[in-house]
Order: sequence, then structure tokens, then C-alpha cells
Amino acid sequence: MTKQRKIILEESEMPRQWYNLAADIKCPPFMSPDGPVPPEAWAQVFPMNLVEQEYSTERWVDIPEEILSLLTRWRPAPMHRAYALEEALGTPARIYYKNESLSPAGSHKPNTAVAQAWYNKQFGTKKLTTETGAGQWGSALSFAGSLIGLEVKVFMVRISFDQKPFRKLMMQTWGGNCIASPSTETNAGRQILEQFPNTPGSLGIAISEALEAAVTDPTGETKYSLGSVLNHVMMHQTIIGLEAKKQLEKAGEKLPDVIIGCAGGGSNFAGLSFPFVYDKINGADIDIIPVEPTSCPTLTKAPYVYDHGDTAKMTPLLAMHSLGHAFVPPPIHAGGLRYHGMSPLVSRAAEDGLLAPRSVPQLECYKAGILFAKTEGIIPAPETTHAIATVIQEANKAKEEGKEKVILFNFSGHGLMDLVGYDKYLAGELSNHKFPEDQIAKNLEVLKGYPLP
Ligand SMILES: Cc1ncc(COP(=O)(O)O)c(C=O)c1O
Repeated sequence: MTKQRKIILEESEMPRQWYNLAADIKCPPFMSPDGPVPPEAWAQVFPMNLVEQEYSTERWVDIPEEILSLLTRWRPAPMHRAYALEEALGTPARIYYKNESLSPAGSHKPNTAVAQAWYNKQFGTKKLTTETGAGQWGSALSFAGSLIGLEVKVFMVRISFDQKPFRKLMMQTWGGNCIASPSTETNAGRQILEQFPNTPGSLGIAISEALEAAVTDPTGETKYSLGSVLNHVMMHQTIIGLEAKKQLEKAGEKLPDVIIGCAGGGSNFAGLSFPFVYDKINGADIDIIPVEPTSCPTLTKAPYVYDHGDTAKMTPLLAMHSLGHAFVPPPIHAGGLRYHGMSPLVSRAAEDGLLAPRSVPQLECYKAGILFAKTEGIIPAPETTHAIATVIQEANKAKEEGKEKVILFNFSGHGLMDLVGYDKYLAGELSNHKFPEDQIAKNLEVLKGYPLP
């Protein structure tokens, strides 16, 4: 044995606390027309134990033993050294990745799904509603619901529902009920369908439907669950970065020079990077890069504003980078990155100069994904290819500069359910969508009269 490719932790070495970045940076409050939104205002939507986490500014939050035990079904996740990719690129950089594709649903999403399902069960919730973009979150929550004994209903963005039929089957296998959004089951869905009968759907619309389905349940036993964006979701995901810290130490590395994750609502990026953002706040020199599609350029082109998290304006206003709640992104294959907004914590960290956001076009991403598959072996999710394309940019830069940088990225999920996108790429049928600047300005008109953070 020569090269140690995987750095493994024992189950006993799993982190026992989550890290909460809200202790170290200050986000403006949720707003409604009456001013800041108090925790009680969320009572119909979320169980209060999760609302408390959402508002918490405690730096370290204990992970309940039962959640740790649920997480050991696939955690700790290995950290891989990407020797084969390094060799193919001829880079002096040392590239490491956290492999979140080994969870039952195939991505990082179950890390928060089991935590949210567990807190809901404790609270007495019987049924959860949610939305899903690529289908990863819907499968993760269906899986968590089956472990914990909760009914799950998933509104899946129409374009992904059509592109990814096997995701729906995964949800059904775990007992989840998955329908295409916009649907005729909610007012929000019916209104959109009347105006735009052929819409590919969007995460913003699906969130409106899932929220409406939860708050209009007359039994009051249904709550809504969100797979990204909110503070408590970011916190649940920090187990990724906290494990990575221990693994880098085992590999004999100090802090990485560059950290990269793709960013849709921000959760896998936050999960890996926030424990290192803490080091950066305390003086460490690290480039921390969230990566988004050029066709949905939330952090790189959209302003930091107050906006709704959903299209039907059911959520309070969140201080975040946003393309406007009515924005329907082009139908790219990275369904999980087609969201108009961005996590308030990720947005604030970007505003504070702690992050260096970047965007990458679709074709460069698929090219990077295929190189990764041919070298490291795993076929990445289309979302994950955004991180890989940026890793390749950084590894090439290290080569030009002759620097032995340490690059760490989040391998957020595998693409075995996303092969239709690869099929289209290989057949030369995909193109790059760039979002025209004037259309961005037009989409932002819906925010006229809103407060500014
Ligand atoms: C594999 C994968 N990576 C990344 C994302 C983007 O979500 P987030 O930014 O919350 O990590 C998704 C969302 O569905 C996903 O499935």
C-alpha cells in the first residue's frame, strides 16, 4: 500500500455538536409588514424546537444521541484524496473531497432530513410537506420519514419530475408521496398553472405549494420542512466540515488554502465551509468559494435585499441575495441550483467579505463531471459538477503559480439518477444559458417598496 486515498473516522469520532455561524456573524431579522418576525409567528409552519434553533445564536449546539445514532447509518463520511484527478491535471495542489454521495439518498441532504424529522417527531408532528428541485431533498426526507415514522408529501419541480422519474420511485419506495409542481392541489399551484400552463416550475413555486399544504391542514398535525436556506438547516450540515477538520488533521494537513462547494440554497456549501469560516473570522487565510450556475447567478449578480423565500410570498422577508421571488430559472439540469434566493447566513458571510462567490456555465460543469468520473470513478450529480469545475480552475491556477495548495471540496452527491443530463451533454444537445443583465433588473422590480437589510 502506498497512497492513502481515504481518510476514515470511527463512529466514536463523530462530532457531538453542530456549529452555528449565527453566533459569529449578525444577520438582519426576518421581516413582515409589521416589523421583525418573532419566533411564535412560525408556529403553524415549523415545530417550535426547530424554530428555537432557527433563532439561536449559541455557537455550539449538542447533537442528540438518537440523531447521532441515525446518522451512523452512513456517517462518518469518508474524505478522499483525489490522487487520480490531481495526476490528470498535473497539478501540485493536493485535492481532498468529502464524499456525501454515500448516504442512502445519495447526497448531503439526509444530514438535516433525519434531524428535522426527529425534532418534528419529538414535537408531535404526524406529517411533513416539502418541495424538491432535483429530487434529492424529497428522497432524503422520504427516507428520514420512513426511519422515524412520519408521513411525507413532496411537491417536485415539474421539469425535474419529468427529467428524473427514478427519483420519484425512490421517494415512493421510502413511502413518500411525490407530485409534480405546480399542481392543482393548492391555490398557489392553480394560479400559476392558469397564467403559465407550460411552466417548468421552480423551487419558489414548489415551496409555496408545500407551505400552503402544511398550514391549511385542518388537523394542525402537518408541518413544513425545508431542505436548505434556513439557519437550522445550515447548522445541521456542519457535521460535514467538522468531520473534515478531524480528517485533514489525520492526513497531516493544516487548514486548507481553498474550500469549494456548489450553492443552490447554500446548505452543502455551508455544511463544509462554516466551521472554516469560523477560522477565517479568527484570522486564517482561506479562500472560501460558493459556486452557482451562470444561469442562476444569485450571489454573483443579484443584490443583497429583503425578499420572500417563495413565489406566492407566503414566507416572511429574508435578508439574502435574490433574483426576485418570481424568477423562473432556465431549465438547466442542476435542478438543485435553480433557486432565486440564497441562505441568509451564506448571503451575509458573502456581504462581510468572508466568501468569494463564482459562477460556472453548464457545459464547463459537465466536462468537469466527466473528467472526475473518468479519474476518481464516481459520476457526480450535476449540482456537484459546479464545485468540481471550480476545483479544476483552482488546481490549474496552482499549477501556473507552482504552488502546493490544499483544496478541499464537497462532493455533495452522485449523479446516478441524473443520467439524462449526461445523455444530452454527450449527444451535444446542451447549451450554456447566460442570464441577461436587463432581465435581472426586470425580475427585481417585484421588490419595489420592500425594506432594505
Ligand atoms: C447533490 C446536490 N448538491 C447540491 C444541491 C444544492 O443544494 P444546497 O445548496 O442546499 O446544498 C442539491 C440540491 O438539491 C443537490 O441535490
